[in-house]
Amino acid sequence: MRIIRVKDDQEMSQKAAEMVIAKMRKNPSLTLGLATGETPIGTYRLMIEDHQRNGASYQQATTFNLDEYVGLPGENDQSYRYFMNKYLLDHIDIKKERTHIPDGNAADVQQECVTYERLIAEHGGIDLQIVGIGRNGHIGFNEPGTPFDTKTHIIELTPSTREANAKFFGRIEDVPTHAITMGIATIYASKEIIMLITGESKREALNNLIHRDINEAFPASALKRHPNFIIIADEAALGEN
Ligand code: PGA
Repeated sequence: MRIIRVKDDQEMSQKAAEMVIAKMRKNPSLTLGLATGETPIGTYRLMIEDHQRNGASYQQATTFNLDEYVGLPGENDQSYRYFMNKYLLDHIDIKKERTHIPDGNAADVQQECVTYERLIAEHGGIDLQIVGIGRNGHIGFNEPGTPFDTKTHIIELTPSTREANAKFFGRIEDVPTHAITMGIATIYASKEIIMLITGESKREALNNLIHRDINEAFPASALKRHPNFIIIADEAALGEN
């Protein structure tokens, strides 16, 4: 685990975008793992700017997102497909058929999990995965207690995660109760993982990640054993760490 200390959200985004862009340049057919949430938006904005200014091309690239709500079609403005199109995919030259997000609206969501896992394997795994962290240590939607050996699966969202996301839906009642998420083993299998952490609200999570033992009660701790796990964290999140 390597921690890159940055000043603020902007510097975190800059650093992360630079890392992704450098990887893309080296390997245009990169398989990139993407995350939703507030944290990576700045990184995506800088990737778009770089594409527009410098012509960096994503035509050969493939993406896999971490997760998606069950029951929301991609056109729903709270779905993660909608989010990814809006904040990144509509603004770069990637082929949409190469952008993968679990289909939360699939007729058979169990089968969708199996298919998703197989698709990742068929692409030779994820080269570089971007992840955030929940205040309770979740990665993707892998909530505390999720076994470390899980592959893509369906989970029930915890009350704290539903609460954290209620602001996007207006009312907590409208937040879906289930999601499809890459499992912890799926994320761990990525060749390189970059975790973005910003703001005081993530300070406790980061503190736990740094100091707590590796334990299924704190899902992100699984990544501490990963040989290429990089955390980019700002001062507000790091505090005295
Ligand atoms: P956030 O979500 O980027 O919106 O804080 C991160 C997460 O819950 O994984």
